Formats: sequence, structure tokens, C-alpha cells
Amino acid sequence: MDNPARTAEFIIHRDARRATLQQHLAELLAAHSRITLEIGAGHGHFLTDYATAHREEFCLGFDLLRDRVERAQRKCNRAKLTNLVFLKAEAAELIAALPAHVVLQRIFVLFPDPWPKRRHHKHRLMQTDFLHPLAAKAAAGAELCFRTDDAAYFAAAKAEVLAHPDWEITPTAPWPFERETVFQSRAPAYQSLVALRRTISLNFEQNQSLVAEVKLNRIVGKIR
Ligand SMILES: C[S@@+](CC[C@H](N)C(=O)[O-])C[C@H]1O[C@@H](n2cnc3c(N)ncnc32)[C@H](O)[C@@H]1O
Repeated sequence: MDNPARTAEFIIHRDARRATLQQHLAELLAAHSRITLEIGAGHGHFLTDYATAHREEFCLGFDLLRDRVERAQRKCNRAKLTNLVFLKAEAAELIAALPAHVVLQRIFVLFPDPWPKRRHHKHRLMQTDFLHPLAAKAAAGAELCFRTDDAAYFAAAKAEVLAHPDWEITPTAPWPFERETVFQSRAPAYQSLVALRRTISLNFEQNQSLVAEVKLNRIVGKIR
């Protein structure tokens, strides 16, 4: 049974953390309305080089692990970049805390934790529960760029994106920027997809037919 005192303490702590993040983002992004985001930015190699090559964009990278964020921020400081910041934050909390005037123009999800065991699949980032709030904050035409070395995760994530009313996979869209990440350097092979935020969401029937197609593929074992 849950201990009510501990539960209450958890909720107070969580709400305070979210309020602090919201306040910090409001100050950080006051002058920026379109941003580029890297989720689970790890040691920050990718976004530091990306921000160096795209000085006109404001880039925000974040990760759950403080030591990775600190290392990433040191890289950013050494490069004297004023268009890049790294933060310690959790993905769903960060998206929920973004100020109302901010939209995402490009989102990178590079080698996210694959959670290979079936009972852990619920922890994967690239699924409907997360694609929804991400779409709600994405500008029309925004790019969601996903890369992983886990073939099963790639297939499942692709199915989730295909079935989503707000995202459209564009097989011809080029990968916007190449810079090897730490996890990429250890991967013998990987797959990527680029999805665009639809200007108009699919209607119910269109979405249902996509969902049915994905379910069928799952039944015939094309994806798991
Ligand atoms: C496998 S590592 C990949 C790091 C980097 N993208 C790379 O390719 O080298 C996954 C990273 O995502 C972070 N992470 C996992 N779940 C997260 C979440 N819910 N919110 C933010 N970061 C998360 C982890 O702390 C870890 O640094």
C-alpha cells in the first residue's frame, strides 16, 4: 500500500520541480518563438555542432542525467554559443512546461533508450502518449527526426508515427544534419526517419484506417 505521507511529499516535490522548470523556460525563451529541440541530448555533441552550423536557430537540448547535461553545457560554453542551452529535465515535463508562445520547428530524438523488454515498452518515448503533446507544440511542417540502432524499436516507433493523425513520415526528406553521437559511434547499424507535423490533422476515418493497417501489420508480425 502507498504511504500517504510519502505520496504527498512526492506530489509537492514534483509540482515544485515543474513550477521551477516552467519559470526557467519562460525566462530563457522570452525572446524566442521557434526553437529546435534535442530530447535526451546525452553529452551534447550533436546539438553543439548543429547550433554552430545553424546560428539563426535557438536550440534547446535536455537530458534526465545531470552529469551529461553539465558536460554538454561545458561544450556549449567552450564553443561560445549564444543560441544553445542544455537543461536537466524529463521529456514529458519539459514539453508541458514550454511557454505558450513557443513552437518547435525541429525535434531530434537520437538513440533514445530502447527498453527492449516487452513489459518495459511503456517507457519508450516514441509512442502516442508522447507524440500527441509533441505535435501540440510543433509548428506546421516541423520535422521530427528519430534515429535508433534498435530494429524492433524502430519498427514500433515507425508504426506509431504512421498511425498518428498529426505526423506524416516523409521517406524522401533528407536527414537535416549529420554529426555522430556517442551512442551512434557504438552502433554497428542504425535507422532514421523524418516525420513532418501535418498542417491539418487527419480526420477520424482517415486515422482509423491507418490504425487498422498498423494493427494488421502487428498481427502478421511485421512489427512488434
Ligand atoms: C541511449 S542515450 C542516447 C544519448 C544521445 N542522444 C546519444 O545518441 O549519444 C539516451 C539518453 O536519453 C536520456 N533520457 C532517457 N529518458 C529520458 C526522458 N524521459 N527525458 C529526458 N531524457 C531522457 C538518458 O538520460 C540518456 O542520456
